[in-house]
Amino acid sequence: MTNKTSWKIGLLFSTSGVTSIIEQSQLHGALLAIDQINSKGGVRGQPLEAISYDPGSVVSRYGELAEQLIVENKVSVIFGCYMSSSRKEVLPIVERRNALFFYPTIYEGFEYSPNVIYGGACPNQNSVPLANYLMSANGQRIFFVGSNYIYPYESNRVMRNVLRQGGGEVVGERYFDLETSAEGFRDVIAEIMSAKPDAIFSTVVGQSCIEFYRAYHAAGGDGRVCPIASLTTNEGEISAIGREAAVGHITAAPYFRSIQSVANRRFLKAYEAKFGSTIDVTSGCEAAYSQVHLFAAALEETGEMDTDSLREALLGEVFDAPQGQIKIDADNHHTYLQSRIAKVNEQGEFEVDLKVRRAIKPDPYLVYPAIHDWSFRTLKVTASGGHHA
Ligand code: ACM
Repeated sequence: MTNKTSWKIGLLFSTSGVTSIIEQSQLHGALLAIDQINSKGGVRGQPLEAISYDPGSVVSRYGELAEQLIVENKVSVIFGCYMSSSRKEVLPIVERRNALFFYPTIYEGFEYSPNVIYGGACPNQNSVPLANYLMSANGQRIFFVGSNYIYPYESNRVMRNVLRQGGGEVVGERYFDLETSAEGFRDVIAEIMSAKPDAIFSTVVGQSCIEFYRAYHAAGGDGRVCPIASLTTNEGEISAIGREAAVGHITAAPYFRSIQSVANRRFLKAYEAKFGSTIDVTSGCEAAYSQVHLFAAALEETGEMDTDSLREALLGEVFDAPQGQIKIDADNHHTYLQSRIAKVNEQGEFEVDLKVRRAIKPDPYLVYPAIHDWSFRTLKVTASGGHHA
């Protein structure tokens, strides 16, 4: 037991720049969990104290600020990052200094670090279900559009393989800078219109995601006819895109704000009480919230911030998250997560159409071919009416 007066933790989420919509929601999720833990007396009688920096969505800043948190602020536990490129900046720093880094974001998989706890979905938990869903609900011909950095390239590589296993075909693949405006997407949208795919798979993130969906709508694209399907377009982006341009589009994620469960209602009520609205609650927000709770429970057990002790306490730990029960996989530091497919309805809200019965074990290296595993384990949610999302 230390005699510190608080437990310091670092937060690295951007509140300015191109990915601030989603990262602000992740920051809010972490802050809500910290408040809840502190209002119950903290951990072993001491409050959690957040030291939060804004990297401004500039990739190199995440690494610099991680170093600053560890060296100057003497913090050994950090929560943060959305883009995989920013995680790759933080990774060597937490490894070199043996700090613990919680990453609450869906990503492309194919990574393991003893210093990272991965709280977002990896491809077997979302790309595989989405490919399966699109091929049965929409068709085999898919057009890829992504942002120009590691996550879209790697995510598309996985998606292409998964689609091929199921007999699908990639009919186009284009990448755009994170600053691309609606005008900048005009040519690719013309190309999509002439290729007539059955669906578009988008890994366009941040502000340009909003521009892309709006440009598609302005050019006559309709999600109810040819949807844009994504793993990253969450409630925050949908609200910025607007109801008319967003309707019919599809996202696969472990969590959606519209989930009808006691745990989610409790989470949303607390979120609204703290932030005044639930408009920006996303799966990244929920993952950050859950990771802070998982960390606090581990700290309660160890009573010290030592990375090796905390890691031991975290592996195998479970939490009743707003999405349902989750568990940190001791084999690979990723998280057993729920998997859901949702469509934006006429009111501009995600409506869950399919979900798995139980949290899926993460398989970040896609060791087990899974294209057919998912379908027989799902529950139809919207059509049956009887199941909670
Ligand atoms: C991401 O870059 N992992 C969304």
